[in-house]
Amino acid sequence: MRADITPSPPLAEGVGLPWDVPVDDAVAVLARARAAYGDTFVVETGRDRYLFTFSPTGVESFYALPEEKASKGVADYLMLRRKLPDEIFEGRRTLPGSLFRKGDVATYLDNLGEALDTTSSELGTSGTVDVFGLTRRLAHRMGLASWAGPGCASGDDFERLVAAFDTLDGSDAFVHPDAMAAVAASGKAAEKAALDEITAVVGASIDRPGASDLFARIVAAWDGDPDRERGIAWDVALIHVASMSNLAAALGWALVDLVEHPEQQAAIRAGDTELAHQCTLESTRLAQRSIMGRTVLEPVDLDVGGTTYRVGAGATIATLLPLTNTSAAPGLDEWRPERWNRSRLADPSALASVTLVTAFGHGKHTCPAQPFSVSAMSMAVTHLLGEYDVDALWPTYPVPVPAQIGGVARSDGDCVMRYRRRA
Ligand code: HEM
Repeated sequence: MRADITPSPPLAEGVGLPWDVPVDDAVAVLARARAAYGDTFVVETGRDRYLFTFSPTGVESFYALPEEKASKGVADYLMLRRKLPDEIFEGRRTLPGSLFRKGDVATYLDNLGEALDTTSSELGTSGTVDVFGLTRRLAHRMGLASWAGPGCASGDDFERLVAAFDTLDGSDAFVHPDAMAAVAASGKAAEKAALDEITAVVGASIDRPGASDLFARIVAAWDGDPDRERGIAWDVALIHVASMSNLAAALGWALVDLVEHPEQQAAIRAGDTELAHQCTLESTRLAQRSIMGRTVLEPVDLDVGGTTYRVGAGATIATLLPLTNTSAAPGLDEWRPERWNRSRLADPSALASVTLVTAFGHGKHTCPAQPFSVSAMSMAVTHLLGEYDVDALWPTYPVPVPAQIGGVARSDGDCVMRYRRRA
C-alpha cells in the first residue's frame, strides 16, 4: 500500500526514478515532469511515493518540516543503505554531526595544509592531472589525517584506505543509482570486503602514539568495549563516507570554473580570500544535483501555496536543487561569484523565495560543515593556483554523470588539466 496524500496531487504518469527504472538524465526527467504537471506532483516509483514540490511556498514549507515527523536522517539512511552494508549503520557512537566542536575546524585546516604540500610533491613541476581525481585524493588525505588513526594518511596504509573507500563509496547510491540493483544482487560483497579492509588498517592504528583529537574522541567512546576495534573503525568509516565526497566534488568544480576564468584566478593568487569564498560558493551552487528528501514518519501538512496536502507516513517529500538553483530568477544559470555576500545572496530581490537558491541548504538541516567546507575549498584553490599555472584540456565544459540524482555533480568522464609550476 502506497502512502496517502490528500487531496490527490497530479501524478507524473510513466515517470520513475533511476533506482527503479532506466532514465537518460535524472534531472531532465523531473524537469520534464514539472513542465507537464506544474510545481507540485507525485512520482510513483518502485514501492515509493515521492511528493515533489518546487513552488516558492512549497519549498519554504519543505525546509520547515519537523524532523520528528518528516525526517532527513531517515531519508538519507534509506538512500545510503542502497550501497553501504547494513551493519555500518548499527551502533555508531561518533556521527558526522559531531565533527564541529570548538577547535576542530582549525585542526582539519591544518591537516589540509599538510595534504596540499603532499599534493604538490606528488604533482611535481609539470604534467597533466584529472581534476576530480586530484580533489578526491586530497579529500581522502585531509579526512583520514583528521579522523583516522596515526599513520592512516600516508604510505601504504593510506593507499589501502583510498582503494577501500573508493569501493565502499556511499555516494554511489545517488551518483550511480542505476548501479544499485547490481550492488544488491551481489549482496554488497565488494563493499563488505572494503569495510573489512578498513577495519584491518584503522584497527592496526588504534594504539599508535599521536592520535588526532577527533580520533582520540572516537577511541574513548569505545573504551573497554570487547568490540572496540571494529566499533572504532566503523565510526571512522561512516564519518569518512558521509563527509568527504561532496567536498571533493565541489572543490573539483571550483577548480574547473577558475581554470576557465583567468581574471578571478589572478585575483585569488593575489590574495583575495573573499573572492575565493565567493567562487567556491558559486561553483557549488551550480554543481548542485541534490535531491533533498524527508521521509514522512507521521502525517504532516505541506502548504505549497493555494493547496495544503496532508501527507501520510511512508511517503517522501522532496525537492531537487538543480531545478530551482539555476532558474528561479534570470541570470542564475551564469557563474557570477559576486552574487554572494558571505554565505547569502547579495540581492535576492528577484526571487519569489530565498529558499529557491542554495549551495548548503536552508533551515535547521543547513550543512553544519559549510564554513569549514568554504574555507577548505578556498584554501585549496589558493594553494594550487599559487603554485601552478593551469590550462584546461577538456574540449568543452565538463558535464555531470547523467543518472546522478543527489549530492554535488560528479563529472561524466575525465576532466584533465595541464599544470606547470610557477616561477
Ligand atoms: C561542498 C561540500 C558540501 C556540500 C555542498 C554540502 C551540502 C549539504 C546540504 C545541501 C545539506 C542539507 C541537506 C538537506 O537539508 O536535506 C547538508 C547537510 C549536512 N552536511 Fe553537508 N555539504 C558539504 C560538506 C559536508 C562535510 C565536509 C560534512 C562533514 C561532516 C557535512 C556534513 C553534513 C551533515 C552532518 C548534514 C546534516 C545536518 C542536519 O541534518 O542537521 N557536509 N550538506
